Amino acid sequence: MERETKFISFFNQKGGVGKSTLEILMASYCHNVLGLKIAILDADYPQLNIHKLREDEINLVKRSEAYQQAFASLGKPVFPIANSNPTEAVAQMDIFLDLEAGEEPYDIIFVDLPGTINTPGVLATISQLDHIFIPLIADQLVIKSSLEFGVLVNDNLIDKPNINLKTLHFFWNNVVKSEKSNLYEMTNSVIEQAGLKVLETMIGQSVKFRKPEFRSTIFPMQPNLIKDTSMIPLIEEVLKVVGISINALK
Ligand SMILES: Nc1ncnc2c1ncn2[C@@H]1O[C@H](COP(=O)(O)OP(=O)(O)O)[C@@H](O)[C@H]1O
Ligand SMILES: [Mg+2]
Repeated sequence: MERETKFISFFNQKGGVGKSTLEILMASYCHNVLGLKIAILDADYPQLNIHKLREDEINLVKRSEAYQQAFASLGKPVFPIANSNPTEAVAQMDIFLDLEAGEEPYDIIFVDLPGTINTPGVLATISQLDHIFIPLIADQLVIKSSLEFGVLVNDNLIDKPNINLKTLHFFWNNVVKSEKSNLYEMTNSVIEQAGLKVLETMIGQSVKFRKPEFRSTIFPMQPNLIKDTSMIPLIEEVLKVVGISINALK
């Protein structure tokens, strides 16, 4: 039976490509703007960047009256961020499925994983996700390792017995349009020739992504910051892959 809750991850074998940042932004938008029921399972142990960011933000709110007022005016709880690790992530995914009777199922759980498939539990967790999205940046080493990983996953983990994973999509992050533009096109055609898929939306490089008020796990993204980042088209494209219709939500 198809699960109602979708488990997705922005995954790459390389660090620093924007996995955690883009997961936070998408989770925040889905929770605050689209009203979806969201959680993040932070299994990137021992860094736990997302979990720690939430703790830092909570401490900041506790210390500031202005933040407390802003928080109260949100009028709803924040989305949960569960602290995990790769060997326990699959069992914790089940906890999100086993809700109390009458409780609404989650729409999406974002699973943040360590950037190496050699860590025990990482491949097992990936195989139980529904969809993975692989951020690519214009760096030959990242591209090479990502394509190898994509082929490995596509050949061994998609449409196989006892495996839940349904799709894998690459997408470009940190894009500087003026430079190496044929690197993007050439890589896309290599990906497509290998029978793999690339999302249309490309996320440009922008200092906005480093701003704490943009990637907050508590407060909604400010509309002036999200504008011109392509985050909304990315989120819409991801939701389409996942099978959540935004028109139905609007
Ligand atoms: N499109 C972008 N433009 C500029 N900086 C970005 C972009 N995407 C991510 N970053 C920055 O890159 C750094 C690494 O991102 P992070 O999400 O921690 O990567 P990962 O989880 O893949 O290790 C962070 O400082 C983040 O703000
Ligand atoms: Mg990360």
